[in-house]
Amino acid sequence: MADSRAVKFSTETLKEYEQTLARYPTRQAALLPTLWLAMREFGWISPQVEQYVATLMSLPPSHVRAVVTFYEMFHRKPVGRWHLAVCTNLPCRLRGADRIVRAIRDRLQIDHGQTTGDGMFTLETVQCLASCGSAPMLQLNQDAYYENLTVESVTKLIDELASRAD
Ligand code: FES
Repeated sequence: MADSRAVKFSTETLKEYEQTLARYPTRQAALLPTLWLAMREFGWISPQVEQYVATLMSLPPSHVRAVVTFYEMFHRKPVGRWHLAVCTNLPCRLRGADRIVRAIRDRLQIDHGQTTGDGMFTLETVQCLASCGSAPMLQLNQDAYYENLTVESVTKLIDELASRAD
């Protein structure tokens, strides 16, 4: 979504935003959940989305920019339908995270921060996702963990995702 004319929450998301705002003492405090809504709605946080959120919340655009750039979990460029965030912190590394990253790279021919040409997959290496006991692991699209990964299981996961029609 790069077209600034199209940057506007849907009616449903706007309603969620109003409910979110009501739960927080200040607009600043509601910024993080609002940015999550924005990422869900637009897929990533473009400069236009930053501006939209700043205007919507009556916050300085510089403040919104500072928050978006501080937190790694906000995508600042378009990502694929399937976002693979592989933890490469020490515990995951000790249990084979490098092999997992290599397997994904080999299978999809993309590197860290890249998206496949068909827009299906994005690979990112990230810091600890608090699942060290089941290392190595990855997070799929911010909402599902795949743990105790092996080269075989991650390859199977990619194949399953690639063949999903929904
Ligand atoms: S080190 Fe990978 S989840 Fe904590």
